[in-house]
Amino acid sequence: MKNILVTGGAGFIGSNYINYILNKRDDIFIVNLDKLTYAGNLENLKSIENNRNYTFVKGDIVNGELVDYLFRKYNIEYVVNFAAESHVDRSILGSEVFYQSNVIGTNVLLEAGKRFGVKKFLQVSTDEVYGSLGPEGLFTEENQIVPNSPYSSSKAAADLMALSFYHTHGMPVVITRCSNNYGPYQFPEKLIPLMIINILNDKKLPVYGDGLNVRDWIYVLDHNKAVDLVLENGKIGNVYNIGASQEMKNIEIVKLILNMLGKDESLIEYVKDRPGHDRRYAIDSFKIQNELGWTPDYKFEQAIQDTVKWYVENKNWWVRIISGDYQKYYANLYGNK
Ligand code: NAD
Ligand code: DAU
Repeated sequence: MKNILVTGGAGFIGSNYINYILNKRDDIFIVNLDKLTYAGNLENLKSIENNRNYTFVKGDIVNGELVDYLFRKYNIEYVVNFAAESHVDRSILGSEVFYQSNVIGTNVLLEAGKRFGVKKFLQVSTDEVYGSLGPEGLFTEENQIVPNSPYSSSKAAADLMALSFYHTHGMPVVITRCSNNYGPYQFPEKLIPLMIINILNDKKLPVYGDGLNVRDWIYVLDHNKAVDLVLENGKIGNVYNIGASQEMKNIEIVKLILNMLGKDESLIEYVKDRPGHDRRYAIDSFKIQNELGWTPDYKFEQAIQDTVKWYVENKNWWVRIISGDYQKYYANLYGNK
């Protein structure tokens, strides 16, 4: 049995990861440490909450005493650190919590991992640490780190901290840098669920700037599969990019979803651009494909339809979310449209 500390496992990607791993393997025990911020939701984990290979602990990764206690109590051998403040727009409204959770929190976990001699520490990072691309080219692992937003700079700081623990202490650290995820349980602040839910509610669709910014989309289960592979076989001290080569302009995504839901384009509203908005992300995932044999299983055309269908069929999940504090956040960022 492998004992893994998964942090941020009640969020979008972390909950999909825990559901994925526990449905597939019975040789892994997962301790899910999550602070349950606005983005953490235990409903995402309903189907595995009674699994004997799983336990949930509500707490903050910044809390070193708690982290030490969990390492000792559960004999933690592996760490997968998903826990983070993850939304760029929120980091523009206020960045302090991003530094607390993403930088200091990662440092607390690394220190504990070092003291307790972890067998592997996987830092879940993002392609946003590479900054922005022009119309051509792809991010490789060799690209310079030039983050542009408070969010991405906090993730980059955590990456550099993690790599320094490998170089200085020989700690078995690996880093994954994935592109934009979509799928079930994504918090409605992010582009795809925000557009689906606004369309279902006949609300305006706020497209930033000219709508021509490009993101490279990957279905969340393909990201989960890659994290599993890197945890098993990734070479320590290495960075692995993860992406499914599915570049889309934002406006194309919005029109696609409108079309799927049978609504016309009059809902689209071009709004003020995000400050410092990165123009284009696109991932070269040759390394993980070549070294670890990873390939994406999900085709965008089908998986985006399945995602839209999931939000249509799981209205209870998002109605509860958008009726709480989310309203205040939305009004603050977008006005009362
Ligand atoms: P999310 O915002 O949906 O979930 C984050 C989770 O972390 C929540 O459950 C939250 O409660 C928890 N958390 C936050 N601060 C914490 C703290 N201090 N202590 C304990 N728990 C805390 O985020 P997500 O989209 O699932 O992203 C997960 C990870 O993947 C993040 O590290 C993010 O940077 C990275 N990532 C995300 C994407 C994407 O497209 N969403 C792409 C690449 C990488
Ligand atoms: O690339 C990986 C990153 O992808 C992750 O590290 C982040 O955690 C994740 O949030 C995501 O960041 P983005 O900023 O790319 O995702 P977001 O969904 O916020 O926005 C996607 C694009 O859509 C971006 O160009 C901004 C635009 N957008 C977004 C929102 C919320 C709009 O035009 N309107 C909107 O209302």
